Amino acid sequence: MNTLLEPAFAKINLTLDVLGKRPDGYHDIKSVMQTISLRDDVTLELDTGKPWSVMCQQEGFPTDEENLAWKAAKVFFDTVQKDPNGLNICINKRIPAQAGLGGGSADAAAVLRALNRHYNSPLSILALAELGSLVGSDVPFCVVGGTAEVTGRGERLRKLADMPECVFVVVKPDFSVSTPELYQKLDKTAIARRPDHGAMESALLAGELGRVADLIGNVFDPVVTAEHLELNYIKSICNSYGSLGQQMTGSGSAVYAIMPSFEYAAVVCNMLKDNYPQVFISMPVSNV
Ligand code: C5P
Repeated sequence: MNTLLEPAFAKINLTLDVLGKRPDGYHDIKSVMQTISLRDDVTLELDTGKPWSVMCQQEGFPTDEENLAWKAAKVFFDTVQKDPNGLNICINKRIPAQAGLGGGSADAAAVLRALNRHYNSPLSILALAELGSLVGSDVPFCVVGGTAEVTGRGERLRKLADMPECVFVVVKPDFSVSTPELYQKLDKTAIARRPDHGAMESALLAGELGRVADLIGNVFDPVVTAEHLELNYIKSICNSYGSLGQQMTGSGSAVYAIMPSFEYAAVVCNMLKDNYPQVFISMPVSNV
């Protein structure tokens, strides 16, 4: 039996704009995504001689073919036309679900990377990312990781300069948001302010953390905040204790704040942890 270990890193959206609805029901987006150090640990056991299984060390996650990690393994083996003779995927979850942090996508991407490496890279990293798009819109970015501009449905990637050194505080409130319903709601909403991706790209290239933080923007944020005013409470705590910028990630409901140092991040965590048990300190990751 072969055992493979792979970290599955969460993502945040520094920018996220929704450009319009497509004939296939999905939406064209433009986003600058960033990998962060908050992670799940994925363990793959090959050649178990038993039917495929998914195990999760925490409750509330699918443990069958509905799990994106299982779907990723399936598309990988179908594509390379191999049979692992039994597979067990074990996931130690830390990334909160329904948070906009790409937790399920990160697990799927970790499975793709680990399997591809094990079989001596039959697929290039870009082919692997393309395969990931069959599993979910955020999977291609999670395969490649780092700092990248993401367009199309999420399958077109362009690497950008690394995020300057900083510390993130990530807070997952108790409520969750349905991604498809949020897209539908946005279709009926006039978008007042869109992020400036060109300026964000320049700020990253210049390595100017303050400007990067000024330029974050997510068109979903005002839509969700209007219905869940507690997001304003979280953001105001972050802002009062030294955050350079704060907003919801993806379709939520997690909020992140960009902190100048670990000390500032620790203070914000302390202020929030009694009301929000799911609060994390995290760093940018440039290579997955
Ligand atoms: O691809 P994924 O399964 O993560 O997408 C979940 C849902 O989010 C889709 O069914 C769709 O309703 C919506 N979505 C979208 N446009 C995207 C990504 C997701 O409309 N680019």
